[in-house]
Amino acid sequence: SSEELDRRIRAAKAELGDRVMVLGHFYQRDEVVQYADYVGDSFQLATAATARTEAEAIIFCGVHFMAETADLLSTPEQAVILPNLAAGCSMADMADIDQVEECWEQLMEVYGEGEDADGIAPIVPVTYMNSSAAIKGFVGRHGGIVCTSSNASTVLQWAFERGRRVLFFPDQHLGRNTAKAMGIPLEQMPMWNPRKPLGGNDEQALHEAQVVLWHGFCSVHKRFTTDQIAKARAEHPGVRVIVHPECPMPVVDAADESGSTDYIRKAIEGATEPTSFAIGTEINLVQRLAAQHPQHTIFCLDPVVCPCSTMYRIHPGYLAWALESLLEGEVINRISVGQDVAEPARFALERMLAAKP
Ligand code: 13P
Ligand code: SF4
Repeated sequence: SSEELDRRIRAAKAELGDRVMVLGHFYQRDEVVQYADYVGDSFQLATAATARTEAEAIIFCGVHFMAETADLLSTPEQAVILPNLAAGCSMADMADIDQVEECWEQLMEVYGEGEDADGIAPIVPVTYMNSSAAIKGFVGRHGGIVCTSSNASTVLQWAFERGRRVLFFPDQHLGRNTAKAMGIPLEQMPMWNPRKPLGGNDEQALHEAQVVLWHGFCSVHKRFTTDQIAKARAEHPGVRVIVHPECPMPVVDAADESGSTDYIRKAIEGATEPTSFAIGTEINLVQRLAAQHPQHTIFCLDPVVCPCSTMYRIHPGYLAWALESLLEGEVINRISVGQDVAEPARFALERMLAAKP
């Protein structure tokens, strides 16, 4: 029963004390979030992973790429545990390392390798945090950098100081929305088509490109529509519409604001007058914010509940299993990035942590 699970989790956590740190992403269900020592967006959780070095184990209630990132940024002695190994991210899976290597090779044929006389590279790879460690390693080896939804424009700025163009993956929407906000015209953001090697991609467009986009997307955020926004405005005059930048461009354009999960949280916490908020992001976060702020009217733009199905795979039962195993001296579901990938991937992450707006 859930009472029994609750008792087991609390008892194991109390006994482990500082030996364990439980991290939870904003999209985790409340039944899991209640046990997290720290709850945040993917950027905050990446830095939280570096903060408590005395913990022997970090139990990451989130998805696979987040646990990999925690492993990259924690000490070698710390074990990072993903309570359910089936918690992946469909967007991260859309950038396959072989496809990215292939794309890069073909882009090098178009642009030519090496920096120009001023030390400017023809193209700099930028990966969204929502990608495998192998992809972060690729980026690290090619002078590139990682970004999250909370620092994408700072990171793009960083990349444009070092390169003539950017290859952005896996999320086409975050790439397009961020580049557009920086004033880059849509015609200069062609999308790379992996099914059509060089011959099928328009070489002229690639030469004129400022940002080459990858074809990935988030299946949760692509569900939001401008019709939903129009309906929210009609039904709730004065509503503030805030969406995650993983939403398609027309949705971001029709919203009042866009930002990371923590941006959304802060916007609501900062509202001093009772306000209506229509939110375009994952339902667990929206429902939690609504419960925490009864003075406001807070609802999800999508009337059909839209959870991230892989985030949902973390169930309290798995958390109990991970904690009780630790008590017995056993580490289950450890996420450990191999050395050859870890070194360049860490490099790309550290560039991100050092990039300042
Ligand atoms: P944040 O970086 O805003 O936490 O988003 C992570 C994510 O997976 C969004 O879908
Ligand atoms: Fe991945 Fe989308 Fe889920 Fe975020 S919400 S973890 S991008 S599938």
